[in-house]
Amino acid sequence: MSCKRFVGKNVLITGAASGIGKATAERLAGEGANLLLADLNEDGVAVVAETLAKAHGVTTRGIAFDAGQAASCRQMVGGAVEIFDGRLDALCNIAGIMDWGPFDTFGEERWDRMMRINLNSLFHINQAALPSLIESKGNIVNMASASGLMGIAYTTAYCVAKAGVIAMTKSLAVEFAAKGVRINAVAPGGVKTPMNGSVPLPDGVDMGLLQRLWPKLGDLCEADEIAAGVAYLACNEARNITGTVLVIDGGQTAG
Ligand SMILES: NC(=O)c1ccc[n+]([C@@H]2O[C@H](COP(=O)([O-])OP(=O)(O)OC[C@H]3O[C@@H](n4cnc5c(N)ncnc54)[C@H](O)[C@@H]3O)[C@@H](O)[C@H]2O)c1
Repeated sequence: MSCKRFVGKNVLITGAASGIGKATAERLAGEGANLLLADLNEDGVAVVAETLAKAHGVTTRGIAFDAGQAASCRQMVGGAVEIFDGRLDALCNIAGIMDWGPFDTFGEERWDRMMRINLNSLFHINQAALPSLIESKGNIVNMASASGLMGIAYTTAYCVAKAGVIAMTKSLAVEFAAKGVRINAVAPGGVKTPMNGSVPLPDGVDMGLLQRLWPKLGDLCEADEIAAGVAYLACNEARNITGTVLVIDGGQTAG
């Protein structure tokens, strides 16, 4: 890694056991960050934390939490701030799930689960973390999606949750700018992670409706390309950027 923009910085990353969260942890550890890595997958995140500490000589800890439970989100942030001796410089909200299916048979349980994990968790985590971020003049990067910027058939719950993440990002950016806290989002298109393919295409879908999802540049993104965007927004080079949504989608949403 050529640049070391996070030396001495304390960063909390959720969803760090896999995919984009793990790639972000790798990127930031390579740039010198001390990391608190939080995930539902306790064993997975512990392995990532241990591996990165050894590889980069930074301080890391894995911590278990369930983004679908308010109390767990708030306790996790409290624990992270304590482990960091009260100083939190950046928060990357990356944990999330995918679920899709025809709207007419999409059950309320699935809708609620999507909102709890992909949207409500950010209400709890961001609210709990903001006092520390105000003290450090820190920043938040929320993981949105191109799905929050366009209509996608069979994907209403996910699209609504990610559109909510974008609205929360912009609203908090306005509310907390005067307190010195930046809040941004990254909106990836398709990324090669375990999430992609984790939920099979529903039976009987009209593939024609999904055509426009394909990136115009031709290929899905790698997780480390998204991590590079998160790292940029979270570092001081982006000190004049707040309320932005960095779209990394190969042109999927361009037209
Ligand atoms: N992969 C894509 O194509 C894509 C595109 C746009 C946005 N995203 C977003 O990027 C983020 C990361 O996705 P990914 O592709 O890396 O997926 P992934 O499945 O590889 O990783 C998601 C991580 O979140 C964790 N997680 C899931 N539910 C959780 C819960 N209830 N509590 C705590 N942790 C939980 C998982 O254990 C896992 O480590 C998500 O918010 C996703 O919506 C992904």
